[in-house]
Amino acid sequence: MKSNAESPIFLGLDRRTFLRLSGLSTSLLATGTLVSLLTACGAVPQNQAVIETTVEATANFAADVEFRLRAVEDSVAILPGKATEAWRFEGELVSGDKQSLATVPDSYLGPILRVQQGQKVRIRFENELAEASIVHWHGFVIADNMDGHPRHAIAGGEEYLYEFTVKNRAGTYWFHPHAHGRTGPQVYRGMAGLLLVSDPEEAALDLPSGAYDMPLVLQDRLFDDENQFRYFVDEAQESGGMSGMAGHNMGNMDAMMAQMMGQRGDRILVNGQIDAALAVEARAYRLRLVNGSNSRIYKLAWSDNSPLTAIAIGGGLLAAPMTKPYIILAPGERIDLWTDFSAYEVGSELRLQSLEFASMEMGDMMMDNDEILPSGAPFDIMTIRIEATATEEAAPLPQRLAEIEQLDPREAVNTDAPYQVELYMDEMVWKLNGRTFELEEVASDERFQLNGLYIWEFVNLPGRGMMADFMAHPMHIHGVQFQVLSRQIDPQYEEPWQTLAGGIIDEGWHDTVLVAPGERVQVIMRFTEPGLFLYHCHILEHEDGGMMRNFVVEA
Ligand code: C2O
Ligand code: CU
Ligand code: CU
Repeated sequence: MKSNAESPIFLGLDRRTFLRLSGLSTSLLATGTLVSLLTACGAVPQNQAVIETTVEATANFAADVEFRLRAVEDSVAILPGKATEAWRFEGELVSGDKQSLATVPDSYLGPILRVQQGQKVRIRFENELAEASIVHWHGFVIADNMDGHPRHAIAGGEEYLYEFTVKNRAGTYWFHPHAHGRTGPQVYRGMAGLLLVSDPEEAALDLPSGAYDMPLVLQDRLFDDENQFRYFVDEAQESGGMSGMAGHNMGNMDAMMAQMMGQRGDRILVNGQIDAALAVEARAYRLRLVNGSNSRIYKLAWSDNSPLTAIAIGGGLLAAPMTKPYIILAPGERIDLWTDFSAYEVGSELRLQSLEFASMEMGDMMMDNDEILPSGAPFDIMTIRIEATATEEAAPLPQRLAEIEQLDPREAVNTDAPYQVELYMDEMVWKLNGRTFELEEVASDERFQLNGLYIWEFVNLPGRGMMADFMAHPMHIHGVQFQVLSRQIDPQYEEPWQTLAGGIIDEGWHDTVLVAPGERVQVIMRFTEPGLFLYHCHILEHEDGGMMRNFVVEA
């Protein structure tokens, strides 16, 4: 393998790009590690284990609601002209309340499943794709064999039967595939749906409902001239593999960057549609925003600078509404906004935007692909048209929303020695504590006691890996909801951090937390489900590349 900076991977780069590249990362070039990344990126695992699971409904599991969910290849109209080939979930209500299933019209996205806390849910998943897949219910506190772990992935033509009781609080959850090494491409091609939970605490609040309760899934995509999704890692593998090839074409450079920085696009889609516009009445709405992007972080704001009012986050309702000038929404995260359009004149327009923030991502400067909208660049997300007066008055926003039990770090099993998770790149692969994902492997420090209260600390600082600290990682833990205890920012990173800080909501329950460059973030949680679960970065190319590990909760 070539290991000098004259390596052919740079042939074809324009001079400007090459200069930016070499100026920025001399050490990278000197060590020839770009070449080893190219080698490493051939490592999409082939070890999809297919475990025998029963697909027979359990006789004494009396489902309140039952769905059929098929993973299908389809084509959808997104851009003018040619249809886009997509992979999507097709939902069907088998039994239960008709309100339980909604589809997102003219979209690859969906379906929307509405369930209630305490309900017994049965979902038959049928994989009609040509590759392995499995469905994960993001944010759910659920038995480990119902969680969609990659060890449960099923091949095309097979079925997986889910049966579970909804334990989560009212809130906005979502589902997406989780086959190892294939989460990124499957989500990118369209596979994602919503799982909206309600409970009595929420019902008592009289929040906007029905047509006034709008899920909005935010995603970015890159299209080719034929209106097809471009996913660089797959393109590189289709065009002859990346392993050891040292990138004889530009596709490999794109793929390498996508693995390092995450796949990004230049078009912003809301619920699967470009240039999204929403017509509203001049009244209050609940807008459930889901960041379903593979890697993009949003800094949400209104175009007229009015503040945003958050009522719920990933783990459900906040104790009280919170007002922020802007809100940071990292991949995997959700935020429910309460937005009163009665302050606007009928006929006026408002835009939801993403504001500029400091991205320390080296790759954005190196990125040879000018088509991509860099991380931290500002853009419009959607237009909201205030089209009519309210047909019916909305109830006022309650000042108290929910009871939230505060977890006490002094009561944790590991108060004095939190479990540390160091996030860094090593040998050009993103790792957790220097380890990558193994389908069933659990290290000795990844074992926790059932019903134990634990503190974990995510550390995104330089020192270990060669390039430890240049990206923010949204860290996600399965099978649990946690609280954020503290954040500590290294003074060196204070300045970029300040471009995000005013929009971070740490209150309430979370399943995903953004760990910015230079940060240590402590979270606390009680594990109530025994078994094998995952924790990983929710930048899907990081996850697929191995920035994911198992942990076990032992009874
Ligand atoms: Cu939303 Cu393990 O993922
Ligand atoms: Cu998850
Ligand atoms: Cu990451």
